[in-house]
Amino acid sequence: MSKPCPLIEVHQLERTYIIGAEKVRALRGVDLTVYANEYVAVMGHSGSGKSTLMNVLGCLDRADKGTYRLNGIDTTRMSEGQLAHIRNRQIGFVFQSFELMGRLSALKNVELPLIYSHVPFWKRRQMAKEALNRVGLGQRIGHKPNQLSGGEKQRVAVARALVNQPSLLLADEPTGNLDSATSEGIMKLFEKLHAEGQTIIIVTHEADIAARARRIVRMRDGQIVSDLSAEQDMTRQDGHRLGIEGAAR
Ligand SMILES: Nc1ncnc2c1ncn2[C@@H]1O[C@H](COP(=O)(O)OP(=O)(O)O)[C@@H](O)[C@H]1O
Ligand SMILES: [Mg+2]
Repeated sequence: MSKPCPLIEVHQLERTYIIGAEKVRALRGVDLTVYANEYVAVMGHSGSGKSTLMNVLGCLDRADKGTYRLNGIDTTRMSEGQLAHIRNRQIGFVFQSFELMGRLSALKNVELPLIYSHVPFWKRRQMAKEALNRVGLGQRIGHKPNQLSGGEKQRVAVARALVNQPSLLLADEPTGNLDSATSEGIMKLFEKLHAEGQTIIIVTHEADIAARARRIVRMRDGQIVSDLSAEQDMTRQDGHRLGIEGAAR
C-alpha cells in the first residue's frame, strides 16, 4: 500500500518581518508534515513564531523562503486571488479574539464564508444552521455576539470556520480568552470534530490543552525543536521536571 499524500508539507519555511531597519526572523527553516485526520498542538513561548506559522499555513500570510504544499499543491507562487480561494475553500481559522461581526446574528456570521463562495441563499441558510447545530448552538442562531457568552462566541467562530467543510481547521489560542470551565467545553468540541475526521492544528501554551491533541510540536526562536506524540511529549516533560527538581535538592 502506498502512503497517502500529506495534507500539509512544509519545507525550510522562513518568514522575516522588516520594520524600518529592524529585521525579525519569525520562522527560520521550519519543516513540518501533517496527514489528514491528525490532531496537532503547537506549543512554545510567546514570540516563538507560532502565530506566524499558523498564518502561513492558513494562507493569510506568505513565507519568504521555502515551500508549503497543501493537498499536494504548492502555495508558494500563488497569486493573492488563488490564496484567497484556498483560504475560503480549504481552511477554517479560529482566533483567540473570536473575530465575529458585532452587528450580525450568529447565523449571518456563519453564513459569511458561503457568501464569498457564492452559495445560493437557501442553501447558505441550511448549511449555516447545520454548522451551528454541530457546535451545539442551534438554539442561539438569532443572537448577536454581545448577546452571547465567550464560549458561545467561540462556538459561533468554530461553526463559521467549519461551514465550508475545510480540509484543515486551524485554531490560534482558541481558549486564550476563556475561563477553564468554558475552555473545557471548547476542547470537548474539538475532540468531537477530530473523532468525526476533521484535521486540526491548535496553538496553545497550556499543557493541559495541548495534552488533548495526539501530537505536540514545540517551537523556539522560529524553529521546531520537538515533534512527538502527546504521550511521548508528556513523558519527556515529566522527565525534565524531575531533573530540575533533582538538581535543586
Ligand atoms: N506583523 C509583525 N510585524 C513585525 N514583527 C512581528 C509581526 N508579527 C510577529 N512579529 C514578531 O515575530 C516573532 C514571532 O511572533 P509570533 O509568530 O506572533 O509568535 P507567537 O505566536 O509564538 O507568540 C516575534 O518576535 C514577534 O514580535
Ligand atoms: Mg501568537
